[in-house]
This record gives sequence, C-alpha cells and structure tokens, in this order.
Amino acid sequence: MNLLVTGGCGFIGTNFVRFVLTRHPDWRIVNLDALTYAGNRHNLADLEAPASKDRPSRYAFVHGDIGDLALVEGLIEEHRIEAVVNFAAESHVDRSITAPDTFVRTNVLGTQAVLEACRRAKVRLVHISTDEVYGSLGPSDHPFLESTPLTPNSPYSASKAGADLLVRAYHETYGLDAVITRCSNNYGPYQFPEKLIPLMYVQAKAGQPLPVYGDGQNVRDWIYVDDHCLGVELALTKGRPGAVYNFGGAAERANLEVVRAILDTLGQPHSLIRFVTDRPGHDRRYAMDFTLAEQELGFAPTVSFEQGLARTMVWYQANAAWLAQVQSGEYRRFMDQWYGDRT
Ligand code: NAD
Ligand code: TYD
Repeated sequence: MNLLVTGGCGFIGTNFVRFVLTRHPDWRIVNLDALTYAGNRHNLADLEAPASKDRPSRYAFVHGDIGDLALVEGLIEEHRIEAVVNFAAESHVDRSITAPDTFVRTNVLGTQAVLEACRRAKVRLVHISTDEVYGSLGPSDHPFLESTPLTPNSPYSASKAGADLLVRAYHETYGLDAVITRCSNNYGPYQFPEKLIPLMYVQAKAGQPLPVYGDGQNVRDWIYVDDHCLGVELALTKGRPGAVYNFGGAAERANLEVVRAILDTLGQPHSLIRFVTDRPGHDRRYAMDFTLAEQELGFAPTVSFEQGLARTMVWYQANAAWLAQVQSGEYRRFMDQWYGDRT
C-alpha cells in the first residue's frame, strides 16, 4: 500500500512510520510534515536513504503544511497514494491555552484541506483524534464510549472535536471513506518533553522540581505508543467507513502515581514533587471503553503500564542527545513562560 502520513515527524507519527514499515515490507510511506517545534526530521532520517544500491527507500519526507490543499492533492496523485493517515496537529493542551489560533488553523482548517484532497482523489482517510473530545469523567462514571457526546473543554480538544465533526460531515455528505480513531494518553520513545511523562523524566534526571498541577489526582488512561500504532493500523486495514473507534490502554493512573513511579525508577526522592497552580479547565479523568475496537478490529493493548514505563525510561536514558536537541530554542521560551507563571 502507498500511504500518505501527515505529522510523521512528531511523537506518534514517528513511531507509526517505523511500526508500519517493519510490519509491511511492501508498503511505502510519504511523510508530510511542517516541522513545527514538535516535528523532528532526524527522527526518521535513517529511513530516507535507499535500502541498497538497487532498492529505493520505501520512505520519503516532504516538508509542507496540511493546510496547503494543492500540495496534499499533488502528493496523492504523484505518489499514487491509496490512503491517508492524518496525525498532523498542534497537540499540547497548555500551548492551546496560550495560543489557540494555531490549533484552529492546523487542527480544523488543516484537516479540512486533507479531507478535501481525499474526497477529490477518492482515497481512504484515517483521522487521528483523541479521548479529550469527550470532555471529563467523574470518579465513578463509565469510561467514554464512541456514542458519548462531544463536550471538549480546552482549545486543543475543541479544535480536535471540530475536525472530527468535519470528518463525519465529509463521510455523510460526500460519501468519503473516512475512519476516526480516538485514543487515550500515549507515552513512549520520541515524545516531546512538554508532555507529562518525558517532562517529569527530564526534571527528575536533573534533580529539578517536578511541577504537578493542582492536587495531582487527575486521572489519565495510559497507552504505550506501539499499541496505539497497532490500533491505527487495524483501523486503516479493517475499519468500517464512517466508523469511530476508541483505543485505550486499560491503565488508569492518577498523575501523582505516575510521577512517583518515574522518581522511583530513577532513584530520586519524592521531595522533588512541587504542587503548582492548576491548568485552567483541567479535565479530571479520562478513561476509554474500547469494546467496539475489540469486537470489530480485534484490538487489545499488549503492553502493561509498568512494562511500558520501564521501556520508555530506558529509551530516554539511551537517547540523551535527542532530548538535548529538542530542548533547545523555542522549547525553553515556552517552558520559562508557562512554568514561571505557575510556581
Ligand atoms: P506531536 O505534537 O508530537 O506531533 C505533531 C506533528 O505534526 C509534528 O511533527 C508537527 O511538525 C506536525 N505538524 C503540526 N502542524 C502541522 C501542519 N500544519 N502541517 C503538517 N504537519 C504539521 O503530536 P503527537 O503526540 O504525535 O500526536 C499526533 C496526533 O495524535 C495528533 O493528531 C494528536 O491530536 C493525536 N493524539 C495524541 C495523543 C497523545 O497522547 N500524544 C493521544 C491521542 C491522540
Ligand atoms: P499532558 O501530558 O499534557 O496530556 P493531556 O493534558 O493531554 O492529558 O498531561 C497529562 C496530565 O498531567 C494532565 O492531567 C496534566 C498533568 N500535568 C502536570 O501535572 N504537570 C505538567 O507539567 C504537565 C505537562 C502535565
């Protein structure tokens, strides 16, 4: 299969490109990425070189914006693309609080351009969404179902919900073959150190304070990134046109538990934890009911939280140079402003 992946230089996209190329020797991937602060071409640079003298690479990188309809349309035609997987997005809730405009531009308008290109070329779209579109759960609420109403609370989740509704509309109105996947919190290699797990790793490793929002009792349902990649691959190959599939890790943890586990792994004291001003509109709990994906796709998470966290810590320990590289420049500016205002 010839696949156009968008946002392949980000965290999940990078893992997905590697996952799919390893499992499908006959698949080819074109990766369209705008290389925002969160995108890193070096993540997949080894794949750009030809496999050997007479075997071309099965991976190509294209620098560009998903909002550029002519570019997306042209790539689909030029590379005989059979399906598009849309990971490209602004993905960090805290940044959506300080600068919501780029979230609307990429997540809503950018997705609309991708939809339009897929409609014109009549190719399948798998659109990557999030559990955050459902809003927040109380402590004893049933986990989110695909039928749970969309009640997003952050500019990030609102922009993702807007995109989901456009995907639905393109399926209903134009008959576009589109599938939406909604996944819970991912963690694993290549995650940008603005998200909870890699950020806490960086702080703990340096013996610096770990900033926990509010009372630290907000709950997330953690999934190891390869399990999400498996779900996306299943949605791509087996998903019903027009369907929405939830994916989760069956691993609900309070933030404080996660942070303590990271400190324990690195042999650092819990006294490094600092409770800081809460995130505005902070969702209390996410949890996913992924029965539909189990029944229709055969999806099930395979990595426990303890196994996944251990693997992730090992990866970050072994990739200190990657971490140092992505923490330069723009990263520092945002961190200083955001955390400077909170502590
Ligand atoms: P990320 O921020 O690590 O990567 C996003 C990538 O998209 C970057 O490479 C960036 O350069 C690229 N990008 C941004 N704007 C673009 C544009 N206009 N055109 C082309 N490329 C652009 O994000 P991630 O954590 O890998 O998330 C990927 C997708 O998965 C997102 O759609 C996100 O909403 C969704 N998701 C993430 C999680 C999670 O826990 N990280 C959970 C569920 C769903
Ligand atoms: P995050 O990784 O930003 O993912 P999301 O907000 O999309 O779930 O945050 C995960 C949880 O960790 C969330 O409840 C907010 C919390 N958190 C902190 O307590 N401190 C931090 O510095 C960050 C980045 C997150």
